Amino acid sequence: MTVPLALPVDFVAVLVDWQRLHGRHHLPWQRDRDPYRVWLSEVMLQQTQVVTVLDYFDRFLARFPTIHDLAAAPQEAVMSLWAGLGYYSRARLLHRCAQAVVGEYGGTFPSTIDALVKLPGIGPSTAAAIASFCYAEPVSIYDGNVKRVLSRLLAYEGDLTRSADNKQLSDQAQRLLTIGIAQHRLSAANTMPAYTQGLMDLGATICHSRAPLCASCPVRAMCAAHKNGTTARYPIKSKKLKRTTERWLWLRLETTDAIWLEQRPQTGIWAGMQAPPLFDTEAALSAWLHAIGISAHRHTAQATGPTIKHVLTHKDLHLTPVTVRLPEPLDVLPSAGREGFWVGKAVLHEAPLPAPAKKWLIAGGE
Ligand code: ADE
Repeated sequence: MTVPLALPVDFVAVLVDWQRLHGRHHLPWQRDRDPYRVWLSEVMLQQTQVVTVLDYFDRFLARFPTIHDLAAAPQEAVMSLWAGLGYYSRARLLHRCAQAVVGEYGGTFPSTIDALVKLPGIGPSTAAAIASFCYAEPVSIYDGNVKRVLSRLLAYEGDLTRSADNKQLSDQAQRLLTIGIAQHRLSAANTMPAYTQGLMDLGATICHSRAPLCASCPVRAMCAAHKNGTTARYPIKSKKLKRTTERWLWLRLETTDAIWLEQRPQTGIWAGMQAPPLFDTEAALSAWLHAIGISAHRHTAQATGPTIKHVLTHKDLHLTPVTVRLPEPLDVLPSAGREGFWVGKAVLHEAPLPAPAKKWLIAGGE
């Protein structure tokens, strides 16, 4: 894949001016350049929209005002506050990152992209966001927004499902920034926060994947795809990610006062959270109930509810709820490789439950 060597040298200056006039300035993590706040927001925003993040961001900071508070918290408290945001491995890595920053750096985030990417949960783009927002390091972010904006700007023909082409476009992102700063003799200190935010704002508010608002775009005069009338062609991604479907039976084993939960493994769906036991077949569910002595239990009531669909990014989960009511708590011994614990219904809202479990167990929805 060859790339044009001539990059639009005015892109950086024009984008920065536009961001100052038309970009977003009142997001809570823009209040100051505190790396703790910026880092927290960037991790939350990795897979989640701004409107959803706003509430979580405030609640997190109220509970953990400093990185020391977060590092010292039990993992369960962190997961519990993350409940509903999804991609729960982010929360576990966030916690580990806080512990690393406290343990290795005395609680102050390192200031270079090279040191930042070595921390748990911080990839190259998040590291560039922190380094550029907080320390004005002239490094370019390279997230989904940037891929879309730059592949259109340059009419980039590379295939972004290929890592070599991705590397090439991300190198171009960095060159575009370096050349733009040099050409206009911009100071990184003045430029970087507005430039990084400008890329995100342009991607989020103008350069939409479908129906981009080119008439309002500050850089349309230098955009190759706009000139050619081919914005819909970019970014080019040959291999589409295939969606998969998983079907599970989901067991609410309860007494009047308590519910049986399991700790989810540290990877996969609902990583690190607590959830009602999942079974892939009815036979597995019955075998487990039998093994723990429930099927023989006298006053047990069992009911199966309508299947619900829970949509994740690359997966549809079909969950069929099964409720088993016991007259009194039962000593459940580890069996068939499963372990769990009774949680009192009165304190269930403090448990780190994934969103659909919260809805089912606490709000009473199916
Ligand atoms: N997405 C990722 N980082 C962001 C930020 N700082 N502002 C808005 N959207 C974002």
